[in-house]
Amino acid sequence: MEYYFAPMEGVTGAIYRTAHHRYFPGVDKYYMPFLTPTRDHVFTPRELRNILPEHNRGFRAVPQLLVKNPEDFCWAAQELYAMGYDEVNLNLGCPSGTVTAKGKGAGMLADPEGLERFLEEVFAHAEGAVSIKTRLGMESPEEFPRLLEIFGKYPISLLIIHPRVRKDFYREPVRMEAFEQALAGYSGPLCYNGGLVTAEGCARLRSRFPQVDRVMMGQGMLADPALVRKAKGGPGADRETLRAFHDELYHTYLEVFGSQKNTVYHMKELWGYLSRLFAGAEKPLKQLRKASDSAAYEGAVNQIFRECPLLEDADWT
Ligand SMILES: Cc1cc2nc3c(=O)[nH]c(=O)nc-3n(C[C@H](O)[C@H](O)[C@H](O)COP(=O)(O)O)c2cc1C
Repeated sequence: MEYYFAPMEGVTGAIYRTAHHRYFPGVDKYYMPFLTPTRDHVFTPRELRNILPEHNRGFRAVPQLLVKNPEDFCWAAQELYAMGYDEVNLNLGCPSGTVTAKGKGAGMLADPEGLERFLEEVFAHAEGAVSIKTRLGMESPEEFPRLLEIFGKYPISLLIIHPRVRKDFYREPVRMEAFEQALAGYSGPLCYNGGLVTAEGCARLRSRFPQVDRVMMGQGMLADPALVRKAKGGPGADRETLRAFHDELYHTYLEVFGSQKNTVYHMKELWGYLSRLFAGAEKPLKQLRKASDSAAYEGAVNQIFRECPLLEDADWT
């Protein structure tokens, strides 16, 4: 089984990936949060800080594009292949209203004919592997068989299925039955993504779908950075490694952002997940949420690491 880290915009940038790989190696591929190439065909300095290979050394990373125009996709993909990436991923899952209104992300699923024209162009010109991360449809999983039929016409290097429709956002339960039906209708390489937060959950998926040999995990990895290692039969995170991982992230953000406020804001988002791995962290977490500078933030973090026992698995109840 291969295990991939899901792309998470605003969280799993190059700094996060690098620190994660240093302290919790074993992820087979890190999918990068989306880039949105524009018509002027230049990457911004901020985009380059995340995608340049020198910021992604030592692990396999896959850039992702959120785009509806095939020429823009092909331009960006070509640039990325030239940097040395051997796979570029197309985002057909982003549910955000501002994205779907422009016909991008999950919005592309609303127009299967348009999607087919897009893929026709992309696969006629792509000079490297193209993978796709998709939902089941916009409104209903009944849209998926038609979409799969379209996907089946192209040499998609990997189809990553997040079995929700756009209107589910991330709230509704994943639709395992629709995923199961989809398996029968697609013969290319396939990856499952959605709701896997424990090694046991991965094992259950494996026994229910023995033909699925790749999974992608996002929020579960943020809560328990050792999740892939555990799913591969290794040990969970220990306090010292978690602390070192945290400190490296925190100090790198401080240096790069040059702002305590922005760094603390960023770290708080991460603690929204990481706190699930600690028992009885409510009180220091309250302090942490109120923090707006380094002194208050570090005080709360020190208290969590000093006083709160680590759980065997992150608590998602
Ligand atoms: C904060 C956040 C940011 C995300 N950013 C992206 C993204 O840039 N590209 C993408 O394809 N999916 C994105 N996703 C979706 C995740 O990659 C993943 O499909 C989703 O969280 C379900 O998997 P999980 O249950 O393992 O987290 C994002 C999800 C969250 C919560």
